[in-house]
Amino acid sequence: MTNPAPINFQKGVYNHYMIKEIHEQPQTVRLELRDRLAQGVADFSDLAIDDIFTNVQKIYMVGCGTAYHAGLVGKAVIEKLVRIPVECDIASEFGYRDVPWGDKQMMIVISQSGETTDTLVALREAKANNIPILAITNVKDSTIAKEADKVIYTNAGLEISIASTKAYTSQLVVLYLLALYMARIRNSFNLEDLRTIGKELSLMGDYLEIAFEQEEKILRLAWQYQQMENAFFLGRGLDCSVAMEGALKLKETSYIHAEAYATGELKHGPIALVTEGSPVITVLTQDNIVNRSMYNIKDIQDRGGKVVAVCKANLEGHCRGVDDLILIPNTNPIVAPIVAVTPLQMFAYYMAALKGNDVDKPRNLTKSVIIE
Ligand code: M6R
Repeated sequence: MTNPAPINFQKGVYNHYMIKEIHEQPQTVRLELRDRLAQGVADFSDLAIDDIFTNVQKIYMVGCGTAYHAGLVGKAVIEKLVRIPVECDIASEFGYRDVPWGDKQMMIVISQSGETTDTLVALREAKANNIPILAITNVKDSTIAKEADKVIYTNAGLEISIASTKAYTSQLVVLYLLALYMARIRNSFNLEDLRTIGKELSLMGDYLEIAFEQEEKILRLAWQYQQMENAFFLGRGLDCSVAMEGALKLKETSYIHAEAYATGELKHGPIALVTEGSPVITVLTQDNIVNRSMYNIKDIQDRGGKVVAVCKANLEGHCRGVDDLILIPNTNPIVAPIVAVTPLQMFAYYMAALKGNDVDKPRNLTKSVIIE
């Protein structure tokens, strides 16, 4: 693994912090991996909660916005590798549930700022019910860090742009590492396969650099689509969570109405909105389900929809019929969300920049939301 350089917090050659922070991701991801992964084996023994990791039977995962989207990926990965149920909730909704609290449960709280009130309220609710809390946050000594029982600090460095990018990929990496660690100490997944996934994760900085080679193409696409007023973002499985994050990035920075849908769900209603020229952005990284998605994409094209696909290089043959293709490196599908999100971040950025928006400080938004 290349030794990551320290992060420089000046805007430097970049016009906005958002694009600078997008470009920092190979470095921040490497920083995330540096102390936690060796030869494909993840280690969180320093947290000193192996007893909880070993015995827990259910995990609640909460966050807001981008942090919630990271949680959705974490849920899928933990369920696959650790074989225990994970409920991932929007923190602001969590309090309205009548949660059947019980023994052998824990909560993972995700927050870049560590100050989001909705997330803090969910944390306090769980704590009042004697649930151990593990926080993943980017800010040292933040309120969430202080109130949680244990904290994993992400190494994304100061994130200035209101639209979160590098903090999201750091959260993803931590969640993957946690899943790998828990699976190893619980013996819930083949150890060699865990090591293979870990090794793949260790290459993530390089994969991101390869994905950035598509930047000029993405800028041209943003130019081509700059008049669009709405867009669908689609994906199946892990790709669906990535699509949700892509739609949020586009909405908050470019003010274009974007809706994310599970690809298979579109035909159950929203496809009624697809007409000649409707932009549809789809994420295709899951080898075992790409064919199923292509049937749906064909349906969309038959109705005049224009399809842009973010597609893993080895799946290019399946995606040939789409209108525009953004290729990302061929990773193991389980870790693909980390790399698949970057073209969507860049697309949102260039769209917002071309519109002349205040990219780093979009209207009506603040970096940490401290009202309920
Ligand atoms: O600081 P947090 O991670 O708790 O913030 C949660 C959301 O407010 C945040 O992710 C928001 O959705 C971002 N603007 C997304 O880019």
